[in-house]
Amino acid sequence: MASSIFTSVTRLAVFIFVTSLVSCLQVISAINAPNLPRQGVVSSDQILRNLIDYKTYYFDQKIDHFGFAEDSTFKQRYLLADQHWHKDGGPILFYTGNEGDIAWFCNNTGFMWDVAEELGALLVFAEHRYYGDSLPFGEQSYSDAKHLNFLTSEQALADFAMLTEHLKLDLPGAKHSPVIAIGGSYGGMLAAWFRMKYPHVVVGALASSAPIWQFKDLVPCDVFYKIVTDDFSESGKGCSESIRRSWKAVDNLTSTDGGLQWLSDAFHLCSPLKSKEDALFFKSWLSETWVNLAMVDYPYEANFLQPLPAWPIQVVCKFLREPSLPDKDLLQNIFQAVNVYYNHTGNTQCLNTSQTATGNLGYIGWYYQACTEMVMPMCSNGVSDMFEPQQWDFKAFSDDCSQQFGVRPRADWATTAYGGKNISSHSNIIFSNGGLDPWSGGGVNVHISDSLVTIVIPEGAHHLDLRFNNPFDPQSVLKARALEVQYMKQWIKETTLNPGSQSNKIV
Ligand SMILES: *[C@@H]1O[C@H](CO)[C@@H](O)[C@H](O)[C@H]1NC(C)=O
Ligand SMILES: *[C@@H]1O[C@H](CO)[C@@H](O)[C@H](O)[C@H]1NC(C)=O
Ligand SMILES: *[C@@H]1O[C@H](CO)[C@@H](O)[C@H](O)[C@H]1NC(C)=O
Ligand SMILES: *[C@@H]1O[C@H](CO)[C@@H](O)[C@H](O)[C@H]1NC(C)=O
Ligand SMILES: *[C@@H]1O[C@H](CO)[C@@H](O)[C@H](O)[C@H]1NC(C)=O
Repeated sequence: MASSIFTSVTRLAVFIFVTSLVSCLQVISAINAPNLPRQGVVSSDQILRNLIDYKTYYFDQKIDHFGFAEDSTFKQRYLLADQHWHKDGGPILFYTGNEGDIAWFCNNTGFMWDVAEELGALLVFAEHRYYGDSLPFGEQSYSDAKHLNFLTSEQALADFAMLTEHLKLDLPGAKHSPVIAIGGSYGGMLAAWFRMKYPHVVVGALASSAPIWQFKDLVPCDVFYKIVTDDFSESGKGCSESIRRSWKAVDNLTSTDGGLQWLSDAFHLCSPLKSKEDALFFKSWLSETWVNLAMVDYPYEANFLQPLPAWPIQVVCKFLREPSLPDKDLLQNIFQAVNVYYNHTGNTQCLNTSQTATGNLGYIGWYYQACTEMVMPMCSNGVSDMFEPQQWDFKAFSDDCSQQFGVRPRADWATTAYGGKNISSHSNIIFSNGGLDPWSGGGVNVHISDSLVTIVIPEGAHHLDLRFNNPFDPQSVLKARALEVQYMKQWIKETTLNPGSQSNKIV
């Protein structure tokens, strides 16, 4: 446990992404918190989930699209739903799977299910290689750098292109169907990049909460944690101050054995804290909890990363009104606050600092991607944000990657491959972002051209627009979804009128 920083103090401050606050101090965690709704509570999510009905298929993909020495194939999983599809022209909405089980993304992308009928669309959910069931080398896929070598966004995009072409050729009635890429988070980045790299395959893309600019020198490294902090500041008086002050209170207590024991009891921890190292780990677990809450601060009861009440940060902040309490009182309140996140069901026996979110995400795979292409600098200063000051230390990050995976990150590659801020030559991409979502800081929020549409949803957390319609949705997300559908219809119309050209401008 102690030999690698990764597996000891480190944790992936994650979720759909690694937030590298403690880049050199992060660990891979999975979850097993109870996911059952409280008795008698049936969320609207669940009622709507009854709509979800798909068939599962597998497609033989080349393991390496870009070289010829490795000629074998693997089975890529994809899901199809054709209940509403108008064959011979009805569009294909193609979800560009991200780092996890595709069935879970399918379940959490209600927007596609909600609009399928109106658009007469076929729904396709394509799993990303190395996640879920789509493992190029089976159980060996993660065994070493050699086997992980084909885990890149470029390979994933090529998989999507091959699968799309296959569907258009082999699926009766699909030949004339325009394809629209849709994705959220890293999946949103892939949707945008799919349109950029394969404009002859997809007529347009909806990239929701896609931080395609969260790369070196494109946005300030502190923007992410500042947005998290703003969410807490705006959800209750004293809230972010309480959290800012809590780090020192933890330090104070964990400087003695008695304090470590007190903290372990007060937080109902499954495994007591025993050392300074455990204390660091505990703090990064707390940070990750606040970050996750910011991502899923949805206006209604939901279960994405964890089962949570409506506007969970407001609920959390009810416990954090008094920042200047003595250490123990302050930390008792912090415990009540994190319990909102970990124990909404009331079924949690103890808090496990090794886990912070759903087990449907592929943490190790994402960490490998962060250690190769997806290098997203993050930092905090403790002043404009409520976290402990932490610089972005590329060298330490790189050393950790080398130790963990035997590879070193290439911090400039994503910008070379995908254009960085220089994307004005592309077209028909919607970038939607939620004002509450920390990932919006690395998203495209400025006007570039009329056919690169930017939509901001001020009351939205992480890809709220891709979720099922809900009676508690704010007006802003309803408007965003309506606009998204309008653009999709426009792209479809343009291709139907003008099948040769798929890159017309929106008028
Ligand atoms: C805590 O979580 C880790 C990672 O999911 C798991 O391996 C471990 O068994 C859990 N511990 C307890 C006490 O639940
Ligand atoms: C997706 O939803 C279906 C229907 O509610 C459920 O049976 C299945 O377990 C869910 N899968 C995942 C991975 O969440
Ligand atoms: C931590 O200990 C120091 C020194 O005893 C004290 O001044 C401070 O108030 C304590 N708590 C916090 C949150 O700083
Ligand atoms: C979770 O909530 C239940 C019901 O309030 C409580 O009995 C239990 O102790 C809580 N678990 C933790 C870890 O605090
Ligand atoms: C973007 O690309 C164009 C054309 O290659 C070039 O003229 C321009 O300087 C680039 N802009 C940036 C910000 O790199």
